[in-house]
Amino acid sequence: MKKIIYPLFIIIIVFSCQSPNSQITEKEKFINSLLSKMTLEEKAGQMNQYNGFWDATGPMPEGDYQKKRYNELKNGQVGSMLNVIGVEEIRALQKIAVEETRLGIPLIFGHDVIHGYKTIFPIPLAESSSWDLDLMEQSARVAGSEASADGLNWTFAPMVDISRDARWGRVMEGAGEDPYLGSLAAKARVKGFQGDDLNDISTIVACAKHFAGYGFSEAGRDYNTTDFNHYTLHNTIMPPFKAAVDAGVRTFMNSFNTLDEIPATGHKYIQRDVLKGDWKFDGFIVSDWGSIDQMIPHGFARDGNHAAELAVNAGSDMDMESSLYVSQLAGLVKSGKVDEEKINDAVRRILRVKYELGLFDDPYKYCNQERSDLELGSNDNMNVALDAAKKSIVLLKNNNQLLPLPKSGEKIAIIGPLANDKNSPLGNWRSQAVHNSASSVLEGMSKYNGNRTVYEKGVDLYYGKTNFHNRVKINYDDRSDFGKAKLAAATSDIVIMVLGEEGHQSGEGRSRTNIGLPGLQLELLKEINKVNNNIVLVVMSGRPLDLTWEDENIPAIVQAWHLGSKSGDAIAQVLYGDYNPSGKLTMSFPRNVGQVPIYYNFKNTGRPSTSIEQVTNSGYADVENSPLYPFGFGLSYTNFSYSNFSIDSDKLGFDSKINVSIEIENTGFYKGKEVVQLYIRDIVGSIARPMKELKGFETVELAPGESQKISFQIDSSLLEFYSYNNKWEAEVGKFHVFIGGDSNVSEYKEFYLTD
Ligand code: BGC
Repeated sequence: MKKIIYPLFIIIIVFSCQSPNSQITEKEKFINSLLSKMTLEEKAGQMNQYNGFWDATGPMPEGDYQKKRYNELKNGQVGSMLNVIGVEEIRALQKIAVEETRLGIPLIFGHDVIHGYKTIFPIPLAESSSWDLDLMEQSARVAGSEASADGLNWTFAPMVDISRDARWGRVMEGAGEDPYLGSLAAKARVKGFQGDDLNDISTIVACAKHFAGYGFSEAGRDYNTTDFNHYTLHNTIMPPFKAAVDAGVRTFMNSFNTLDEIPATGHKYIQRDVLKGDWKFDGFIVSDWGSIDQMIPHGFARDGNHAAELAVNAGSDMDMESSLYVSQLAGLVKSGKVDEEKINDAVRRILRVKYELGLFDDPYKYCNQERSDLELGSNDNMNVALDAAKKSIVLLKNNNQLLPLPKSGEKIAIIGPLANDKNSPLGNWRSQAVHNSASSVLEGMSKYNGNRTVYEKGVDLYYGKTNFHNRVKINYDDRSDFGKAKLAAATSDIVIMVLGEEGHQSGEGRSRTNIGLPGLQLELLKEINKVNNNIVLVVMSGRPLDLTWEDENIPAIVQAWHLGSKSGDAIAQVLYGDYNPSGKLTMSFPRNVGQVPIYYNFKNTGRPSTSIEQVTNSGYADVENSPLYPFGFGLSYTNFSYSNFSIDSDKLGFDSKINVSIEIENTGFYKGKEVVQLYIRDIVGSIARPMKELKGFETVELAPGESQKISFQIDSSLLEFYSYNNKWEAEVGKFHVFIGGDSNVSEYKEFYLTD
């Protein structure tokens, strides 16, 4: 069939040597020209995204459902596919789009490359604990490059949802509870995936998701309704999305939840008014999986036709897996319910991103098997994963300097269902990782030969096999291995207990109401503790767990998340002191699940509680308000002391700056890194303001005895928030500034912002 695309390629090449402005014009000219040739059905086709529906390098599709999709693909009624994996599969499908459809418009291929593709990095929540933005950018770059080498050109990441609720399983995918750090992480990850030039074959399109409010699902139950106010939306939820736009992100994904009682997919205010209006975003928005159709059970759309109308009018540009745009849009335009200009706008956005990727120049540019063979899981990439894993570990407790472990002499028992687990550390969004391919703690520790070690599983965490689609079946009754584990512990000097969540126990659809150690693990820990208290507890999890008993009874606790391909090596290096832990929590760890949602940047209330003894104050009768481990907290094998906190003026004008500084000294015996954090409190505002907000941080590395002065500059832009006037502005008045090693810091300096 004759195509009109190739002559247009020549025009692109001719103009690609011109100035950036004329290039932009040429891009838009190309898109408009192509759009003018498209039928309404072909336009709706560009807005349609299907999951891979058949093995494209195998026999022809069978079954009515697959045949229908195949025919749509050949008719130019599919604009994108997701979850098609591998160079040959992608090439085969691209060939149909380019060579068999009337206009030959290439497909864009998306996939969830969340924390790695073949080489698996720590889950994003863990990685955010590194507070290392270069690292976040680098791991996204490696993940994007591996994905692009395997044919893909679009990832559904970064997930930038702020969440304060550890019951919600998807906290593992984000950067924690804070909008400031979350914004910087969003920017780093977008830059990592997209690089400076989308046309480069090693970069892929990023997607800021889930727009918006998904992290506030009520009671931490996935897909649930949300309830937050307009100011929370703008001050807490939106900033990482805005940062992603500022970093040049080219796609957004909306979300499953309602906000203001309206499903995000049908939410005009957030999509058209804020994102495409105020923020001038000119990329496209993809729905979440089936979220257009799901507006029917939400009770917002009468039927599929109505759902498509509501979604497109609200600004959702691409339909992931509802099949409603492809079936309904042409009719909706013809009946006058949808203005064709809205369809044109959506298609322009999609074609723009395809153009920027260079797909009109070479639709097969990502399909290079040789590149895929060389790059996926390479040693270089694995080294980045190891670095990321070490930096993501957070030391929560280390009494009696039980850690680091002596490298020889001692007898060490390694106990727990996750100690020899090579699968859980891969985490939930493990993409193309080979099953059981992570290094286990046992393997990592076995590289240190100087100790006599014994291993006992102690208990099974779950029964049977696990995968993304199954719920883990937790063991609540089989204690038959307790005895052997107790014997091993009783006859050892030190016990390393590796406990926590299986890799699929957090993530999408993995909400929990009990966030303690699952199954019989706590019982096992208590039994072991009776025979040997020299315990180092290594916690693997995808969320903050309730570790209150553990904190009261176990001398050393290491938060080791799900750390990816090199998990065991990283944990062993930390346990033996070859890497001094430097991670700091980006989500508060509650004392018990009843405190959730819990977060450091809370409001004071009218009756702030200072003691559990008070009755008619905003506190609990059974537990204090503070978290077990606060946001920003993490220990090192060395100690840091802070002194000489000073501020150079207590008056700040809208055009001036003030400096705050502090001296930090390594008073311990190991070289170590510390994340020095700057917090500000706005004492009185046009709306109630948080007790503290993170406004800056800097990581210092100091040798024993070494000290360094750290300074932060404060100007009025740092004090801006979405005010009662519905705009970002700083308000005059009194402020407190804090500098310290976690969000619990209490010493402050006062200053005033004046006109
Ligand atoms: C998730 C998205 C994901 C999409 C495609 C949905 O269920 O909410 O985050 O990108 O599936 O896999």
